[in-house]
Amino acid sequence: MYTQAMDIPGGPKAVAPGSPEEAAFNARIARDEKIEPRDWMPEAYRKTLVRQISQHAHSEVVGMLPEGNWITRAPSLKRKAILMAKVQDEGGHGLYLYAAAETLGVSRDDLIDALHAGKAKYSSIFNYAALSWADMGAIGWLVDGAAIMNQIPLCRCSYGPYARAMIRICKEESFHQRQGFDIMLALCRGTPAQKQMAQDALDRWWWPVVQMFGPPDADSVHSGATMAWGIKRISNDDLRQKFIDATVPQAELLGLTIPDPHLKWNGERGHYDIGPIDWDEFWRAVGGDGPCSRERIATRVRAQEEGAWVREAALAHARKQAARARKAA
Ligand code: 3HC
Repeated sequence: MYTQAMDIPGGPKAVAPGSPEEAAFNARIARDEKIEPRDWMPEAYRKTLVRQISQHAHSEVVGMLPEGNWITRAPSLKRKAILMAKVQDEGGHGLYLYAAAETLGVSRDDLIDALHAGKAKYSSIFNYAALSWADMGAIGWLVDGAAIMNQIPLCRCSYGPYARAMIRICKEESFHQRQGFDIMLALCRGTPAQKQMAQDALDRWWWPVVQMFGPPDADSVHSGATMAWGIKRISNDDLRQKFIDATVPQAELLGLTIPDPHLKWNGERGHYDIGPIDWDEFWRAVGGDGPCSRERIATRVRAQEEGAWVREAALAHARKQAARARKAA
């Protein structure tokens, strides 16, 4: 997985429309074969992959922050160990994804600089605060649950390095979702005050999670191209619906109420109907004006600055090792 970063192509070769390279690329997409880093690909395909994979990597790394804040306050040693492992997994997901983006000829440093300069997007969901321990349950159950729903189809994405990274990520996300549900279950089987904490967390996270799947299909500017290229397999609205249909029975099992008075089973459609989604709130969070947007970026910038000595020490160590190896040879 980590060695993907070394697989950088020499840069896209421009070809005329209708060229044999373009025909070969289109034929491979039509046969549902993987495109690999050294294969010719249209510049627009490469660019949209860099956009999506880097946004995804940033989401994993920024996504460590709301839960990282709760490691020292976990209610037991077991919960602390599980939460630490989960947050660490998210950091690993960021690394696989930055490595996959690097196979497209971009540098990880440039991608991270863009995030820190506020020029790159990351998932809207991570702009919300984790206020209580129950939020660790709600994040695992709902945010990771939504993430898997969106990411399982990406295991079949047409770009090989992204698809392969997603296979391991999805396995880990599945554990994350279950640990979140387990926290919710423990709270819902606990005292009335604990159950109320779980309800309060669901009330605050539900709508941001529903928004997390992205704008409605009619407003999704990239879906047409990414679906034609086999990057995206299922549309934003269809994934959102699948998530809602799967989650409502889970909330019922917990004895919690989803904060949507319009939520109703529609027998004709075979799906739940929901109330209106506040897209203004979504676009505010996407545009850097969510409740914790500034704090998240400031924390990432600080972490990068405070970690500079580690990167410098690792480089100095690598230089010394290389010099020793040269001397020995
Ligand atoms: N948050 C922030 N921006 C979002 C967004 C969201 N939830 N949903 C959509 N957008 C942005 C898009 O990035 C795009 O902006 P851009 O043109 O500047 O790139 C714009 O809104 C229009 O949306 P589209 O529907 O046209 O964009 P896509 O076709 O790319 O679909 C997506 C959006 C569904 C998020 C898709 O990019 C995707 O599937 N990405 C990979 C998965 C991913 O990044 N998930 C993020 C969560 S990861 C996570 O939760 C970590 C886990 O550990 C919990």
